[in-house]
Order: sequence, then structure tokens, then C-alpha cells
Amino acid sequence: MRAKIVAGNWKMNKTLEEGLSLASEVVNMVADEVSGDVKVVLCTPSIYLHAVGKLVSGKVSLGAQNAYEKESGAYTGEVSPAMLATVGVKYVILGHSERREYFGETNAQLAERVNLVLKQGQTPLFCCGETLQQREKGIHLDFVKQQLTESLFHLSAEQIAKVVIAYEPIWAIGTGVTASKEQAQEMHALLRAHLASKYGQVAESISILYGGSCKPDNAQELFACKDIDGGLIGGASLKARDFVDVIKSF
Ligand code: PGA
Repeated sequence: MRAKIVAGNWKMNKTLEEGLSLASEVVNMVADEVSGDVKVVLCTPSIYLHAVGKLVSGKVSLGAQNAYEKESGAYTGEVSPAMLATVGVKYVILGHSERREYFGETNAQLAERVNLVLKQGQTPLFCCGETLQQREKGIHLDFVKQQLTESLFHLSAEQIAKVVIAYEPIWAIGTGVTASKEQAQEMHALLRAHLASKYGQVAESISILYGGSCKPDNAQELFACKDIDGGLIGGASLKARDFVDVIKSF
């Protein structure tokens, strides 16, 4: 059985006060309303992690939006997986398309980050996904496979089993346009087959989340797809009601 996971990516939103009240609302609503074995993650801005970490409990865990590829040292402004561990971070988003686009993160750099995150016993939420242009040219499947190959395929089978993948087509992020369930399922199945080509049966145990304008209206049909094991949720994670309704879509 693959883990079902719904992670909220707050991105660069909310004041501290708003973030704390959102986190407590989510924790309480999840405790009251969500049954079953779904795991919930709150990926807050790094400056709020310590405070939000004191509020999470039950099915809800703490996640970071990024981490640097060095353990410590003269890297002004960066935060290491080891530091995140000290404030209770259990999941780390790596390679979000916004990080790749605006901050030039490369597949090679992400490979190093995955290693350090795993070393801390945290779960990498490894993001991949194509642009609209790549999809229109028909090179999207190969492009996304390559992202996995270059950042993850150095891992052992034991290590890859601890990674969670998030497929996020860039054209669907924050645009209100969601991939259809057929488009999403096609890519998820392809990613699983690609993982199986290297890791065999282990691929069956790896959770692959969908992200990109996933909200209460469409989560149910997406989560019902065979190879979709949950979601990475941006906009809809900023309101407790919407986020919890997405979680309840399983
Ligand atoms: P969105 O963002 O749900 O607002 O499209 C998803 C993400 O970027 O993780």
C-alpha cells in the first residue's frame, strides 16, 4: 500500500499570525474530520517552521519548501536539512518549478539536496514537471523522465523508497488550469514505469503526488486515478476549509 499524502505549499504567503491560525485550524479540522491513513504536511515559509512545528500533531507534519545542499558553513541566507531537522521538519520540497525557474536550481544540485535530506531521515518531496511549450512539442514525457534520472537515479533502492515525487505541470501551477485526470494519470504511470525500469517492484511503493491548481472541485477525480497518491497544493492550502476538503477527497 502506497502512502496517501496531501501537502500544502504556502509559498511566500501569510504573516506569522495568519500562518499560526491557519495551521491550528488545519490541525483541528483534520483531527475532527479526517479518517483513514492520509498523511498531511504543512510546508510553511522557513521563518515560521519553528512556531508551526509546535502546533502540528496527529496526521499533520511539518514540511519545508526548500533546503540547501551543504550541511553548514558560509552560505548566507541558506538553510540546511540538518537545521530544518532541529525544528521538527519531516518533509522537504525540493526542485519546485519556481525554484528551478527563478533561482536556477539544477538537477545536479537537487541530487545533492536529496542526499542530505535523506541523511537527516526526512522525506524529500521531489518536484518535476514540464512547461506548456514542452508539452506542445511532445517532449514533455522525456523531459520529466530526465529530471528523475538526473536527480534521483543515483540512489539505492532502499533510498528511493523513501522519496515522494510530485508531478506538477508548470502550465497548471497557480493558473486555475488543471491537468485533466487523463493527462495526469498518463504522466504518473509513465513516471512509475520509469522508476520500475531502474528499481523494479520498489516503484510500486513510491507515492507520486499531483500538483497544479488542485482544489476541492477536482481533487476527487484526480485522487481516484490509479497512480495518483495525493497532492501538492498551493493556492487551496491557504484556506483551512479548502485544504481540508482536498484532504477529504480520498
Ligand atoms: P497551485 O500550486 O495549487 O496554486 O497551482 C501548486 C504548487 O506550486 O505546488
